[in-house]
Amino acid sequence: MKTMKAVLLSKKTDAKDIVLSEYPIPTVKPGWVLVRIHAFGLNHSEQILRNSEINVPYIRKPIIPGIEYVGEIADASDTTFSTGQKVVALMGGMGRSFHGSYAEYALIPAHHVFSVSSALSWEQLAAVPETYFTAWGSLFECLHLENNDKLLIRGGTCALGYAVIQIATTVGCEVIATTHKESKLLLLKGCGVDTVLLDDGTLVGKVSGITKALELVGAKTLHDTLLCIEKNGIVCHTGVLGGVYALNTFDPIKDIPNGIYLTGFFSNTPTQAVINHIFDFLDHHNLIPYIGKTFDFSEIAKACEDMDNGKVNGKTVIKVTEQQ
Ligand SMILES: NC(=O)c1ccc[n+]([C@@H]2O[C@H](COP(=O)([O-])OP(=O)(O)OC[C@H]3O[C@@H](n4cnc5c(N)ncnc54)[C@H](OP(=O)(O)O)[C@@H]3O)[C@@H](O)[C@H]2O)c1
Repeated sequence: MKTMKAVLLSKKTDAKDIVLSEYPIPTVKPGWVLVRIHAFGLNHSEQILRNSEINVPYIRKPIIPGIEYVGEIADASDTTFSTGQKVVALMGGMGRSFHGSYAEYALIPAHHVFSVSSALSWEQLAAVPETYFTAWGSLFECLHLENNDKLLIRGGTCALGYAVIQIATTVGCEVIATTHKESKLLLLKGCGVDTVLLDDGTLVGKVSGITKALELVGAKTLHDTLLCIEKNGIVCHTGVLGGVYALNTFDPIKDIPNGIYLTGFFSNTPTQAVINHIFDFLDHHNLIPYIGKTFDFSEIAKACEDMDNGKVNGKTVIKVTEQQ
């Protein structure tokens, strides 16, 4: 039996305790393709999986974590893909109900694999799927972002925040971004943000003219964000960086101001059409996806530790193969 290197989790695991194990390379089945992974990005949700979600019944155990990767088709099974085709894959239960990206190969339902013809390197490509798909959906599907908008990004110093800043400034919006750390103010300013703010939990009264807001801190600050928006403005709730996942006392009648619209984005249903839009946009504007730090697969524990400790400013990318 041929094996591959992979991370396997069965219980709550600290980043420093992550190890690479030998695990059988999966064999294809109808409707599922085998992908040789060249690189993958890390995500905040994988930290949540390691720290707590691993205990819930819907997580298959042991599970290879990771919700996105880029690579090439190693076995197309009965699908229309062809061997060697360049693809990106994300979500749809990956890293939770079926094995994910912290591996050299992955078996995945063909409808969650998308072809790409981008000239970006594997490393650059790996910064895109989950982060840019979420940025794109939040900004355009949910917030209907336009170039005359004044956009508030609450929690700008995550990988998603940097991608949103890149897209929104390219579109031509005025961008206000927040961080909860004074040391990160200059970093955000350097990304082309018009106004950076230190977020102490209260922004109401400190900002004006906001037409759209992307809430990445989450439920912890949502009510305050709703109070910062101009009439007819939209708030999109996408992140949970503040560690609060639901508001049991939320009263929509009183808590959503009149004429303000609240929406949320969930990245679980990517489509080839949206993936194409994203790569066309990056290509058209000559944009290189924003990468915080790159690690080799052998350094996966260190990469997760650095992500957990907020040491990486932007997307953490793991190179699985040398061919970049
Ligand atoms: N809805 C969806 O489908 C979807 C999809 C993708 C991501 N998300 C969510 O979007 C958020 C960002 O994800 P990501 O993978 O891009 O994260 P990430 O790159 O892992 O970013 C984490 C960084 O956010 C910053 N941060 C932590 N707590 C914060 C707080 N209370 N306030 C402000 N910033 C804080 C920290 O940097 P500093 O402390 O150094 O500032 C930390 O290093 C997460 O909540 C994730 O779950 C949602």
